[in-house]
Amino acid sequence: MAKIPEEVIETVRTATNIADVVGQYVQLKKSGKNLFGLCPFHEEKTPSFSVTEDKQIFHCFSCGRGGNVFKFLMELEHISFPEAVVKVADFSHVDLASEYRQDASAPAVDSKTGQLIALHEQAAKLYHHILVNTEVGQPALDYLHDRGLTDDTIETYQLGFAPSQRLLKPFFDQRQSDYQLLRQSGLFIENADGELRDRFTERVMFPLRNASGHVAAFSGRLLKKADDQPKYLNSPETALFTKSRLLFNFDLARPAIRQAGEVTLFEGYMDVISATQAGVLNGIASMGTSLTTEQIYAIERTTDKLNVCYDGDEPGQRAIERALSLLGQHSHLQLSVIQLPEGQDPDEYRKAHGNDAFKQMLTTAKETPIRFHLRYLRRNRALDTDSERLDYLNQAMPLLAQVQEPVELDMYLNQLATEFQLDKDALVAQLKQVQRDTAAQQERQRPRQQQQSAPVPAASPAVTVHQQQRPLTRLERAEQGLLYRLLHDRNVWAQVTAMPDFSFVHDDYQVIYTLAQGYFQTHQAYVTAQFTDFIQEDRLQQLVITLETKSYAAVTPREIDDYLAVIMDEAPIEEQLRLKKNQLTEASRLGDAEQQRQLVVEIVQLERQRQANKQV
Ligand code: UTP
Ligand code: MN
Repeated sequence: MAKIPEEVIETVRTATNIADVVGQYVQLKKSGKNLFGLCPFHEEKTPSFSVTEDKQIFHCFSCGRGGNVFKFLMELEHISFPEAVVKVADFSHVDLASEYRQDASAPAVDSKTGQLIALHEQAAKLYHHILVNTEVGQPALDYLHDRGLTDDTIETYQLGFAPSQRLLKPFFDQRQSDYQLLRQSGLFIENADGELRDRFTERVMFPLRNASGHVAAFSGRLLKKADDQPKYLNSPETALFTKSRLLFNFDLARPAIRQAGEVTLFEGYMDVISATQAGVLNGIASMGTSLTTEQIYAIERTTDKLNVCYDGDEPGQRAIERALSLLGQHSHLQLSVIQLPEGQDPDEYRKAHGNDAFKQMLTTAKETPIRFHLRYLRRNRALDTDSERLDYLNQAMPLLAQVQEPVELDMYLNQLATEFQLDKDALVAQLKQVQRDTAAQQERQRPRQQQQSAPVPAASPAVTVHQQQRPLTRLERAEQGLLYRLLHDRNVWAQVTAMPDFSFVHDDYQVIYTLAQGYFQTHQAYVTAQFTDFIQEDRLQQLVITLETKSYAAVTPREIDDYLAVIMDEAPIEEQLRLKKNQLTEASRLGDAEQQRQLVVEIVQLERQRQANKQV
């Protein structure tokens, strides 16, 4: 692939607002000058991830990651710089010459992960080919068509077929793929002699893509029912695939989720695929197990509304109950349940009623979690005796006591009154009683709760910054201050570059300073998001971003002189210390005890002197 020239990169960068790209992955909320959200690089409950639009950079005060829009995608999707440029160009509809594009969509093949991904993507292609182009695949293709899937959908999801005969093993052997790599891929089963054979046979194959859209695993569905085998077989956990993290279809659904402002969580892969075909693009599914906290965090970063749309059967209802409780505990998501008719799953519903009815059902069958719980409570109850009804109402009241909205509460009360032919006033009276009881109970518990968890003030992002940064030494504060001024102020730049023996004490700042000299030879003005690309090295980029997210007041000449004084003062000591420490290493290596003693004394003296300087 041809190297992308800087002007092209600039065109792409300036055509893009970093907030829009980040906004695809992270829910951002304005706070002062910046946008804040939950950091996509680690789990957190209070936002410490910021986007500064006027500098076009992001920065997480908690984990320290930061950079421009390209860096964001590189980190998040584990892609290379040119790949990130291509992605951003596509996002912003900038035409890129095809020479910059080749291979940009393929993952880097040098890393182990890259190789495993390449293996999976080849396998997906092969399974897909078998399904759509071969005779062995025909029964599976008929099956999928029969289930109402179009060729487009089969294409979009790269559905495939693993036949009963050996397929992947000979295919990869022919390509002389590395045996260890094949072993670790999870695509094979190994016998006692270390021989590998295809794990998936006679199954319709669903590629499981990770959040970056790369195939990380498979799920295979039995084509013909077999009682001794699971209906769906997933890849085992591998370096690529952690079941508890992956959400089916999250990569494709993300733009639609952001656009709709909500996500719909289904139970099965087929439900998601079916929904897509009906034009509902914001559907995802967990991996057949109940939802995990990792998955919940990933969802919460993207949206704040979630609809649970599980099967209408008893296990489905129990799973909804579990999911609601988990989501309630671990997220602030606004929840709804989409209640399907008894016994149907979403895919069956679409097949029975068609795309339009399916789409409509997703809105009309939406209910609040309370409504769901009220109904859930009554399942398996005949409710034909007074005592059963009373028992039900007694269990329902604590649910109603949680409802904050008066109108919503009134609605439930009306329904219950009508259904059980009760006096609404009596229901209200009973509810009041329950509310009083709960309040009293909370009152009793309160002092204890407060002891257990000291009240934590809702941390504003600014507070988080302060808490989490390591305190800088006086020297480093001066170096950072000066470097910031050097980059942003041409007068300061002229003043300092005119001092021939000036240098920063810490190598990192000195390297950035040196790189800036090169940068200003080819660039008129300082642009943060451009300079970080220019310096390339990750650690140095982070340093620059850290500088950029501090707030410096207008510069004064006195400030610069102070910085220079501190730095020049320390430079010789730092330099001597470095020298002595090197000598000490050498002396230890040679076993020169006398020399070692001498050097240790000198080093201690220098350290003391440096310490004394810092106190000033
Ligand atoms: P379902 O049994 O409801 O499957 O399991 P489904 O979506 O209706 O599939 P079809 O319509 O019969 O093809 C729901 C999800 O549970 C997981 C899968 O993720 C499936 O999509 N599952 C189910 C397994 O992991 N293993 C199984 O044996 C069965
Ligand atoms: Mn189904």
